[in-house]
Amino acid sequence: MTDLTYRFAPAFQAPTGSAIRELFKYLSLPGMISFAGGYPATSFFDQPNLAAAAERALRDSPVDCLQYAATDGLPALREQLAALMARRGAPVAVDDLMVTTGSQQGLDLLIKVLLSPGEHVLVERPTYPAALQAFRLAGLAVDSAATDAQGLDTERLAEQLSTQPRGSIRLLYCVPTFANPTGACLPLDRRLALLTLAAEHDFLIIEDDPYGALRFAGDEVPSLLALSAQVDGAAGRVIHLSSLSKVVAPGLRIGWLIAPAAIRQRCVIAKQTVDLCTAPWAQQIAALYLADGALERALPGLAQGYGEKCARMLAGLEGLKEVLEVSPPQGGMFIWGRCRGGVDATQLLQRAIEQRVMFVPGGAFFADNPDASSLRFSFAAPSHVQIDEGVARLRRSFEL
Ligand SMILES: Cc1ncc(COP(=O)(O)O)c(C=O)c1O
Repeated sequence: MTDLTYRFAPAFQAPTGSAIRELFKYLSLPGMISFAGGYPATSFFDQPNLAAAAERALRDSPVDCLQYAATDGLPALREQLAALMARRGAPVAVDDLMVTTGSQQGLDLLIKVLLSPGEHVLVERPTYPAALQAFRLAGLAVDSAATDAQGLDTERLAEQLSTQPRGSIRLLYCVPTFANPTGACLPLDRRLALLTLAAEHDFLIIEDDPYGALRFAGDEVPSLLALSAQVDGAAGRVIHLSSLSKVVAPGLRIGWLIAPAAIRQRCVIAKQTVDLCTAPWAQQIAALYLADGALERALPGLAQGYGEKCARMLAGLEGLKEVLEVSPPQGGMFIWGRCRGGVDATQLLQRAIEQRVMFVPGGAFFADNPDASSLRFSFAAPSHVQIDEGVARLRRSFEL
């Protein structure tokens, strides 16, 4: 008999998978309405233009689509992404940027290249769970920094850092614009304060920005990357990740990473052992889609569409204000909430599933001391009718 007792790597001895992916099994229950995953609305996928780009890519550049490509990405796509960054107020050279298989891969490559087991990273409290999972599987110590309705509380962060030797925190990971899970957008003064802290305490910042283009209220705020040149000692400390997942389609798996040359070159080497290159056909489709201006044409409608869904959801949740407080976002896909009276969101979810509605209990988003009453709703995927019905079901879950 073959011995099936394997010797797993330490991080996989007793691994815990994503709490959000665990919820997937309930999605197939008949009639379920999900406010759980951060999925874009399928009705917003620009299928005609993507189909045209896919067809044109294969017809006009079959070899680029079907052959292996350079690990850092097809030049045609990198040019388009550099132009996109310029439109977002952060001009970069084509060579400053590499294509990744979703921005999730960018994070994974950075962890491989920059950090060793046991080193300390800082995350927002709460933060994106797949980042927590990636840090933990890499054997890193994850510390968390306080946030409020505007995002990272930089005054408290300054106090926290002042108690530690300079350099003991190697890196801070944050989603400063329409955060997952809180939807918060960090104001300009705090962005500048954060960059100053990075310079003073000698840490790098990973700015994860998949949602920044989906603003439906308030004024634009420059990215940390764009601001880093203005703050003494901060240039070169911001590594920027972004993605087409939320604005075009996650099925393309196109993300990108912008980092100083020494870091980027090492990420390219790390990527060689992960997937050799991001699917070239998907890259070519993305390049043609962007070159055609299709994303620029689609963005205003996307932001408006998500803004309307968010407004609809907030209007519905207003009726639950005795039992639930929520933070209205200015963009992105999420509403963060907190049950009043110490109601446990995981127990609430059990009742909600019986009513055929889902959300994500907040515990999964905390590196430590989870807030059991918190929860995250995504308003992005359900239709207006489903939002109304889903909120009515939530109401019943609260036994109102
Ligand atoms: C903050 C954040 N970063 C990264 C990702 C992953 O994006 P991608 O599909 O580009 O890998 C997500 C997806 O939900 C996210 O919310």
